Amino acid sequence: MKIARREFCWLVLSGLLSFFSACSSSIGLKLISKKKIRRFVFCTDLHAVEQWRVPEALSAAARQINEENPEFVICGGDLISEGLSVVSDIADRRWSVFRKFQAELKSDFFAVPGNHDLSKASDAKNLDETSFQFAARREFLANTSSEKSFQILEYGNLVIVMLDSLKVLREPVLHQGLENFYRGHISSSQLEWLEVELQRFSSRTEFIVVSHIPFVSNYYQEAYPQGQLSPTQYVENYQKVLDLFSDKKLIAVLQGHTHVNEIIRDGGISFITSGAICGDWWCGEKEGSGEGFLVVELEEGVIRVQFKEYDWHTYRNC
Ligand SMILES: [Fe+2]
Repeated sequence: MKIARREFCWLVLSGLLSFFSACSSSIGLKLISKKKIRRFVFCTDLHAVEQWRVPEALSAAARQINEENPEFVICGGDLISEGLSVVSDIADRRWSVFRKFQAELKSDFFAVPGNHDLSKASDAKNLDETSFQFAARREFLANTSSEKSFQILEYGNLVIVMLDSLKVLREPVLHQGLENFYRGHISSSQLEWLEVELQRFSSRTEFIVVSHIPFVSNYYQEAYPQGQLSPTQYVENYQKVLDLFSDKKLIAVLQGHTHVNEIIRDGGISFITSGAICGDWWCGEKEGSGEGFLVVELEEGVIRVQFKEYDWHTYRNC
């Protein structure tokens, strides 16, 4: 289901109201008993560049995100544009534009890497596989002040699992006429880490997974009806992640990459792709999704999202 441009209605995606025992004294259950509503922003696909007045656009986006007064801001990646293919000093300047956006936010900011964030990866091609994969993310980690490209964020009864959905390739693979240097994939070391981490949480804990590359999306099937899906268009082993949540309360997967709003509900999980901060690569709206971000509310297993466009129009001659 695509959300029409300028449509601001709230979408109720999950109706799992849970009852609880009021006699518990744990902090987590006290939060539930007060019907704590978690409210945060999910923004994705900034594609920071210097031209087309993009720094100004990102300031406008940051202002509007601040006006929402979110508890925190989660970002779905592609913080800069074409980090893999531009020369180092251009990538550096794009990271600088991104850092200014981040500095203008008044809430804590956390991001997963996108395929465009792998700047200077080609400099590390001669390293062994583990070192190469790490080096490809070094710029992302440095510019987001992150220690790892995947992590768990805990907010009382809500746990947000931030995944790194990229496997970086040394040599490009051709698909649909494009050279691709990555594929959507959750590494085995990440799956092992997640399996151990999930054991810490009770069956009452509510989870949201964040991934740049979609787990589930209909967008590319619509865009390329005759073609086979490319491994750049979805996470090829996403089911292994979902299997780890089989006895957990996974509410939603928040996704980026397509720049188009979409919601698919499958197996009790809402797969929510957000339109991009950059819209259609700073060319305006893409298939009805303009330049904007999602406001997300979660209340007792019920998730509501609202796509909000910030005040901008394109200065790119497309
Ligand atoms: Fe993107």
